[in-house]
Amino acid sequence: MTNEMLEKSLAYATRNLMDEHAPHLKQDKLFLRQNFDLNQKKVLDFGCGMGGMSLWYAQNWSCQVHAIDIDAHHIQIAEALKAKFPTDRVQFEKRNILEAPLDQMYDAIFLNDVAEHIAYPVLEQLLQQFSRVMNPDASLFISYPPWEGPYASHVQSVTGLLWSQYLPKPLLMALIKRRNKAITGEIEGNFLEVYKGLNRLNHARLINLTSRAGLVMHKRLSHSILKRSRYLKSLPVTGFPFRYLVSKELLIFKIA
Ligand SMILES: C[S@@+](CC[C@H](N)C(=O)[O-])C[C@H]1O[C@@H](n2cnc3c(N)ncnc32)[C@H](O)[C@@H]1O
Repeated sequence: MTNEMLEKSLAYATRNLMDEHAPHLKQDKLFLRQNFDLNQKKVLDFGCGMGGMSLWYAQNWSCQVHAIDIDAHHIQIAEALKAKFPTDRVQFEKRNILEAPLDQMYDAIFLNDVAEHIAYPVLEQLLQQFSRVMNPDASLFISYPPWEGPYASHVQSVTGLLWSQYLPKPLLMALIKRRNKAITGEIEGNFLEVYKGLNRLNHARLINLTSRAGLVMHKRLSHSILKRSRYLKSLPVTGFPFRYLVSKELLIFKIA
């Protein structure tokens, strides 16, 4: 990773930590404040990326945070972020938990914008592992942009189009390739790789996987772009055709 990339990523991670309106985390932060009290809790931030949320948990509650990611570059930036905002309550670790399974119990497990990046057979094994390391009243939080929604493609910043996932594939591939940009990841190092790594997650698919792992949905918030309108915000958002307007799903699961 170049120094320039590290500095840019550190600025991005700092914003994710410090700014309550950081673009992909605004809804998560609001929902988490309303639904969690993490004081004295043991937290797993899975797929912690560059660590903004891991440090945010520790800044907002008196909790211990174990933050894991599979990507060495992301953990390198997370460690740089921790050096900037020192704390002994957050431990970052580069780990593939299918090779080195979790060996501690947790009160809360968080996946902020992670589940949609993991192939289903792997995601299913991860969920089964989470359900084994959750204390009896523990919560598993999952947030993600559902596949039907405007931001699901993760490439709207390079194509310039919401719902890019519905473009004919040759056109979409050509557009991404033409405007492709390098990003920080060691594993996914540009937008094309990110797009190819998406699993097209939606609510029905997630419920299928979580129930097979012995988890039951406890709470769901479907954040729709309809909510921006004073007149339309009370419409039900999860049925056809409104589910195409859902920008983010936020869910809490418990052990069944
Ligand atoms: C879009 S980023 C989200 C990062 C962070 N949670 C946030 O909200 O800023 C998804 C992260 O999941 C990580 N990831 C993907 N598959 C993983 C796996 N099998 N184990 C651990 N981390 C994984 C990626 O390396 C990446 O850092």
